[in-house]
Amino acid sequence: MEIHCTEKEQFIFKKIAHAATEMGAPAFIIGGFVRDKILGRESKDVDIVTVGDGIDLAKKVAERFKPRPQVNFFKNFGTAHIRAEDLDIEFVGARKESYKYHSRNPEVVPGTLEEDQNRRDFTINAMAVSLNEIDYGKLVDPFNGMEDIKNKIIRTPSDPTYTFSDDPLRMMRAIRFASQLQFEIHEETFQGIKTNVERIRIVSQERITEEFNKILLSIKPSVGLDLLYQSGLLHIIFPQMIDLAGAEYKDGLGHKDNFYHTLQVIDNISIHTNDLWIRWSALLHDIGKPATKKFEDGHGWTFHGHEVVGARMVPKIFRKLKLPMDEKMRMVQKLVELHLRPISLTKENITDSAIRRLLFDAGEDLEALLMLCRADITSKNKVKVKRYLENFTMVEERLNEVEEKDRIRNWQPPITGEIIMSTFNIPPSRVVGDIKNAIRDAILDGAIENSYEAAFELMIQKANELGLNGKNN
Ligand code: CTP
Repeated sequence: MEIHCTEKEQFIFKKIAHAATEMGAPAFIIGGFVRDKILGRESKDVDIVTVGDGIDLAKKVAERFKPRPQVNFFKNFGTAHIRAEDLDIEFVGARKESYKYHSRNPEVVPGTLEEDQNRRDFTINAMAVSLNEIDYGKLVDPFNGMEDIKNKIIRTPSDPTYTFSDDPLRMMRAIRFASQLQFEIHEETFQGIKTNVERIRIVSQERITEEFNKILLSIKPSVGLDLLYQSGLLHIIFPQMIDLAGAEYKDGLGHKDNFYHTLQVIDNISIHTNDLWIRWSALLHDIGKPATKKFEDGHGWTFHGHEVVGARMVPKIFRKLKLPMDEKMRMVQKLVELHLRPISLTKENITDSAIRRLLFDAGEDLEALLMLCRADITSKNKVKVKRYLENFTMVEERLNEVEEKDRIRNWQPPITGEIIMSTFNIPPSRVVGDIKNAIRDAILDGAIENSYEAAFELMIQKANELGLNGKNN
């Protein structure tokens, strides 16, 4: 074999080869598996293309395994899937053209292997390995995918407009592969994306978001994000990010370009975490800046409250992008809202109470928050960065000290809403929240002791102030 496969893989491919020979239908491994093998990347998804019927071949292959794997097939698409050992194997008949211009539904027309390779997205994804007796294991590479892998180039096998019209998601895939594999997009292919950006509108949000997340999860996400920006795709799929771009000057005073600052923060955080949602928080941490931007005479540009405005924008963005509206979204929202807090603690005399408040507000997301804040320090001035980071280390030490002492992170105030409601015989209402918050604040500020008795006493006192007087309310 011209690609390096494990013994287990060889064993499976031999079975496919025998079934194909029996049927008289040539079969090939094609696409991502071949690409990843050449690149030395792990891959468990195998695509098999046959110049014949993919479903029939899958059934014949399944018969050769004990126990026989289930064959799942989609008649309309002419595709079938089996799972053999730990490989997911997809079978399809070679085809020509696959998508009609205005439709997302594929139109299946049988074709030759070369026609099938020609309708694929990129030269690096169009390479095939023969499973046929006469040339078993030979690489079939009519578009020089191997050369493009060597030169780290993403290029469409046909005219880019044709390839991107076939499936406009491929514009995002090109950028995703560039970011994931650290390849460059060939000039003509990139020009093809620029010309066809509008066509991304026919692609479903789920598919777009899946690619976007893969870009965010790549080693250096700024590569893909900048390409999305340069191509014009970002303007369509994520306009709020475009609003971050550019630096305005007035009276000789400017502000930094918040788009490129954000990209740097994502790259910084990506060195430390592969968590998609922490990376999302880096992407959105300054998203409220354009809406809060002001020029104050003699002072310069300000973005007061951008963390609060930004946090409020998070659910809307998540809904639009069809990202999960669950605790992941709430974590991103919390990190955006709190992202200035640890830094602000480096600028003042830090009281235990301020530290306790941060511990309480960040709770279990404190590590993620600190990671975001460190990543947010992006000044070009090395001395400044060093000073900020040193101050920041001090804040982290204080956070640890106070947490050791007071155990605030997983702490809940000793008086709950239920206790307040039952003591005063009142239904859920605003006063319950007010009393609860007053108790929480008093403990965090160190005004009262962190005990049930002290909290109960304060509850009675607050209730009296509010005119509540016991069981007859
Ligand atoms: N393909 C394509 N156009 C698409 C999607 C896929 O031409 N929009 C072809 C490519 O030849 C690709 C193969 O189908 O290699 C398999 O697609 P898929 O499994 O989605 O992607 P991979 O290339 O395997 O990469 P990844 O698993 O990283 O998505």
